[in-house]
Amino acid sequence: MTFPGMGQTEQTANPDNCREQAAGSGAGDESLAVYLRRQAARVEAAFDRLFPADWDIPARLMEAMRYSLDAGGKRMRPILTLAAAEAFGGDAEAALPAACAAELVHTYSLIHDDLPAMDNDDFRRGKPTNHRVFGEAMAILAGDGLLTHAFHVIASCSLPPERALTIVRELAEYAGPRGMVGGQAADMLGERGVTGLPELDYIHLHKTSDLIVFSLRAGAHAAGAGEAGLAAVTRFGRSIGLAFQIRDDVLDVIGQEHKLGKATQSDNREKKVTYPYVLGVEASIEKVRTLTEEGKRALLSGDVPHPERLLEIADYLMGRDH
Ligand code: IPE
Ligand code: IPE
Ligand code: MG
Ligand code: MG
Ligand code: MG
Repeated sequence: MTFPGMGQTEQTANPDNCREQAAGSGAGDESLAVYLRRQAARVEAAFDRLFPADWDIPARLMEAMRYSLDAGGKRMRPILTLAAAEAFGGDAEAALPAACAAELVHTYSLIHDDLPAMDNDDFRRGKPTNHRVFGEAMAILAGDGLLTHAFHVIASCSLPPERALTIVRELAEYAGPRGMVGGQAADMLGERGVTGLPELDYIHLHKTSDLIVFSLRAGAHAAGAGEAGLAAVTRFGRSIGLAFQIRDDVLDVIGQEHKLGKATQSDNREKKVTYPYVLGVEASIEKVRTLTEEGKRALLSGDVPHPERLLEIADYLMGRDH
């Protein structure tokens, strides 16, 4: 089985090339590349304070959780939380626990996604997958641990209690059976049984967009955004989330393993129906562009006082190579 357009290459965007774009974009003097690195470092520094020092956690479980959490990754979801807080004039520091929670849930989802019972992958974030190092039982438990702890992190934050409660409720909604878990279930049930793009969109909107929508809304809630602003970031997140997954599926066909830190051709091997499988690579790249523009328009038409950085991130994600 081959994909239309397989083997072709394309010009991809790199945040280091975004300096000029950032200058004069209204996002401030800091380039996008520097911004992304600064926010990722901030989130990673917070990981060291995640678990109370006096908790007696089995060393092997802690090692397995930290293995995947510390392996790197773009930290795109927590960065979106921090950028969303800033977009509403809020303090990114106050949104940091919710940002960490998004990355905890995302990392758990990757550990489970890679398991033999799911996508059966051997490499993630440039390292052997969690179950390859710690065994399936510990990998499942490491995922369970990261997921559960995400709720503790939000519930322990210093936001006004009603905002923290809203973020907790929305994490359960967007990451749980109605959200990411539902999308992953549909993805598992779908293998080559998906008959059309509406079904595929359901899978992508839930397995990927929902956590991205959560990340944005959490930052917006932390900053006290109103309904119109929340609606705008939700529409933005749905579109760029769908674009993010299509880009992931394009990179699975034409990406480079050393940049991605994971194996390519995984979807083909696992007989996944994807946009590149249905439409071909070129049309999929065009779809990513259209969705990104739609998302940006939604953000601009909503009540978001400082949308510049989020718009820049959307453009960067459209052409990412990892
Ligand atoms: C991979 O997510 C899984 C998808 C939802 C497509 P990322 O591409 O954000 O992975 P990391 O966090 O950078 O490793
Ligand atoms: C993963 O989608 C989505 C979630 C983990 C929720 P993929 O299965 O395409 O992600 P990769 O390609 O393994 O990172
Ligand atoms: Mg998968
Ligand atoms: Mg996978
Ligand atoms: Mg993939």
